[in-house]
Amino acid sequence: MNITDRYRIQVVAGARPNFMKVAPLVRELKSRSEIEVSLVHTGQHYDQGMSADFFADLGIPEPDINLEVGSGSHAQQTAKIISSFEPVLMKFNPQVVVVVGDVNSTIACALVAVKLGIEVAHVEAGLRSFDRDMPEEINRIMTDSIAHYLFTTEPEANKNLLAEGIPDSKIFLVGNIMIDTLVANLSKSDAVPIIEELGFKEYSSRFGLLTLHRPSNVDDKKTLERIFDALREIASLLPIVFPVHPRTKARLDEFGLSGQLTTENGFWCCRPLGYLETLHLCKRSTMVLTDSGGIQEETTYLGIPCLTIRENTERLITVTRGTNTLVGRNPQRILTYANQILMGGGKKGKIPDKWNGRTARRIVDILINSLDKQ
Ligand code: UD1
Repeated sequence: MNITDRYRIQVVAGARPNFMKVAPLVRELKSRSEIEVSLVHTGQHYDQGMSADFFADLGIPEPDINLEVGSGSHAQQTAKIISSFEPVLMKFNPQVVVVVGDVNSTIACALVAVKLGIEVAHVEAGLRSFDRDMPEEINRIMTDSIAHYLFTTEPEANKNLLAEGIPDSKIFLVGNIMIDTLVANLSKSDAVPIIEELGFKEYSSRFGLLTLHRPSNVDDKKTLERIFDALREIASLLPIVFPVHPRTKARLDEFGLSGQLTTENGFWCCRPLGYLETLHLCKRSTMVLTDSGGIQEETTYLGIPCLTIRENTERLITVTRGTNTLVGRNPQRILTYANQILMGGGKKGKIPDKWNGRTARRIVDILINSLDKQ
């Protein structure tokens, strides 16, 4: 094949939860001689610990372009991505743009592509929390409504898409690409010295891991206080490692809650951790308390009980088949489920179908097959 005959595929990543999804995809695309791949980083996340550390941990090549959009209101950030991505896309002129997940970069770049008549592939399509107050839910619905290829992680996502009138021919149940990354990095994560760095060795056989960053949980003082009412009780029974997201750090400081989060009170707060560090802790934890999307799936794969501090989840299979329990924001409910785990309970769960490390290969096969037919 002549180099100029190669299919061009542009992959977009913008924020922390995107990086573990593009890593296996870029690797797989680069391994195919018929494809020329370009990686765009929108710069939605930009701190070392929120971005560059993930590229290093996951061996993602340097992006071909970084749009460096940075933070802002949703409108500002989305608008900036749209206007700076357009010329980049026109220059590379790919046959397909691949977007992943549900962040502002996902919808912004999908929108630019379809308006230029370029096909969009959405990886992690069809997930629905049915909560339109979540910015991610709007991003998911909009991206799915304009995408040409909808790659899903679980059967429920297929159902959601069909119910929204998306033709079956566009929907492909390929499994969970984040699990490709987890499988590839699990043994590598064993050697990471994060427990030593945290000075946590004596507690390392029994601890909880906490992540919290959803605006609906952290931006309102009363809500955040109530969540920490429960977490303080849990931390008095089980030491909790808490990597603090920048949004959460700002709110904890603003609401005067940071002072409570001491090691005497059972909290081991630290910077946002890298991928391998988080995986190392997750795999060894007694339970995970989180409002993250991806961590619900990672704990299901690892068989670790997960309490999700949200009223809903878009990742239903983690509840119906995996180790996840939706505990909401009621302190009593959070405590009840945490106590069950501490007393030896907690869901055992099973690994969902096709969460086995081969999702990137399935996606790339489908794309090439479809481009060959055009
Ligand atoms: C974004 C995603 C969310 C994802 C989360 C993971 C959207 C709508 N939201 O939310 O789905 O779960 O990322 O982290 O796309 N900040 C830094 N350094 C950074 C990035 C952000 O300090 O590298 C600070 C900024 O002050 C910013 C705040 O964190 O205002 C929030 O960042 P932003 O990207 O707006 O939203 P997230 O809450 O991170």
